Amino acid sequence: MTAITFVRGDITAQAVDAVVNAANSSLLGGGGVDGAIHRRGGPAILEDCRKLRASHYGKGLRTGQAVATTAGRLPARWVIHTVGPRHSAEEDRSELLASCYRESLRVADELGARTVAFPAVSAGIYGWPMDDAARIAVETVRATPTAVEEIRFVLFDEQAYTAFAARPV
Ligand code: AR6
Repeated sequence: MTAITFVRGDITAQAVDAVVNAANSSLLGGGGVDGAIHRRGGPAILEDCRKLRASHYGKGLRTGQAVATTAGRLPARWVIHTVGPRHSAEEDRSELLASCYRESLRVADELGARTVAFPAVSAGIYGWPMDDAARIAVETVRATPTAVEEIRFVLFDEQAYTAFAARPV
């Protein structure tokens, strides 16, 4: 049985087994959640990311995929990096956004993570409308079989929290 919970806060402060990062395909850092995770987690995360680029992801991590590294100095044990799609008015990229959640949970299961925190992937710099991002996120994790016991959505501001917490779980 998986509990789906919602909190307003900073994902870098969460005492969970794994936090999910809304990364970009370079895996080498950026703004938003990505910047906050690398700042608070310290250089060990970037070091792992560079190794992954060299060993497996020469061209970068594809949109909708996920991969884990150390969490450095964060309270979590692992960071699961996933690459959300940029929102597009011309093309429906919902399936790629859903894939971020499914793939992150698959990686969490491989790691043996029991508690996982997600941000609102793609709903910041990548421009996804918050209500739709929340719908896809919650519907997808509800429908994904996993051994994870708690999936915690960590929302940075009131608007995001309201959009997510309004979804049926
Ligand atoms: N904790 C929780 N949520 C946060 C935090 C935090 N510390 N900081 C921001 N958010 P974004 P994206 C919220 O832009 O849209 C980066 O440059 C934020 O308010 O972090 O997937 C990457 O390298 C928003 O609701 O991710 C990529 O290039 C949500 O997290 C690109 O941005 C996601 O916003 C990815 O863009």
